Amino acid sequence: MKKRALVCGASQGIGRATAKELAQEGVAVTVFARSEDKLKALVGELAGEGHDFMVGDIGNPATWTDELQKRHSANPYSILILNSGGPKGGAISQAQPEEFMQAMQNHLVANSILVRTVMDGMKQKSFGRIVTITSTSVKVPIPHLGVSNTARAAVASWGKTLSLELAPYGITVNNVMPGFTKTPRLESLIKAKAESLGKSYAEVETSWKDLVPMKRFAEPEETANLIAFLCSDKAAYISGQSIAVDGGRVGCL
Ligand SMILES: NC(=O)c1ccc[n+]([C@@H]2O[C@H](COP(=O)([O-])OP(=O)(O)OC[C@H]3O[C@@H](n4cnc5c(N)ncnc54)[C@H](OP(=O)(O)O)[C@@H]3O)[C@@H](O)[C@H]2O)c1
Repeated sequence: MKKRALVCGASQGIGRATAKELAQEGVAVTVFARSEDKLKALVGELAGEGHDFMVGDIGNPATWTDELQKRHSANPYSILILNSGGPKGGAISQAQPEEFMQAMQNHLVANSILVRTVMDGMKQKSFGRIVTITSTSVKVPIPHLGVSNTARAAVASWGKTLSLELAPYGITVNNVMPGFTKTPRLESLIKAKAESLGKSYAEVETSWKDLVPMKRFAEPEETANLIAFLCSDKAAYISGQSIAVDGGRVGCL
């Protein structure tokens, strides 16, 4: 029987590339995000059969929990990709309480609800793969992404703790930390930076590429390749790890 995956934040970027890679590997994929048109189009592009989409706002569980429960009861998910849009940037000293609450709701609380919904089904099968997508800021906080840094570290710690609880059931929990990756998110960050500095898009892009030992940004597919591997049978003994896909940029062991 085909494995079934729920890929959150799948309408574009890393989530989208992950959905495509998992489908290529023979997994039946449900793609989840807010943009129905993009999800519908993506389902049509996925290799193989058995794919569908689910529309909802991850930060507002009332929009998706019943639907997810229904789908999971009918045909259980054994792969869960926990991904969403990054919180907006800014100095942490200026961040409003609501920004922290929203970031924790969209990332930490939503992840917890998603896991609690599908976890028992994974336990029954003695197989599960849970992957969080965060940021290299888990290792080295990024200036002016204060709320994001805080939420990412919380997610990484939550995932590590969860990995200890779920390991006896054959369920792995890992954390993938993208570096600069060519997605709409990165484009909007470069654009905002260029505007704030009065520089061109190309100037900022080049200066960011210079920060990476490989002198280039990642393709979303390169990050998706690692995620798909962590979801495979071959990765059964890898759990509780945070792994960067960043061209060697993060300067810590
Ligand atoms: N790209 C990079 O360079 C980079 C670097 C480090 C970390 N990251 C992090 O890695 C993750 C994925 O990055 P990305 O570049 O692929 O991001 P992206 O291009 O912004 O895509 C984010 C995805 O999440 C969905 N999403 C956002 N808010 C949502 C909500 N409230 N409910 C449901 N779905 C929601 C979006 O779809 P809808 O708008 O259709 O809902 C979209 O499919 C993000 O957390 C990002 O911050 C990215």
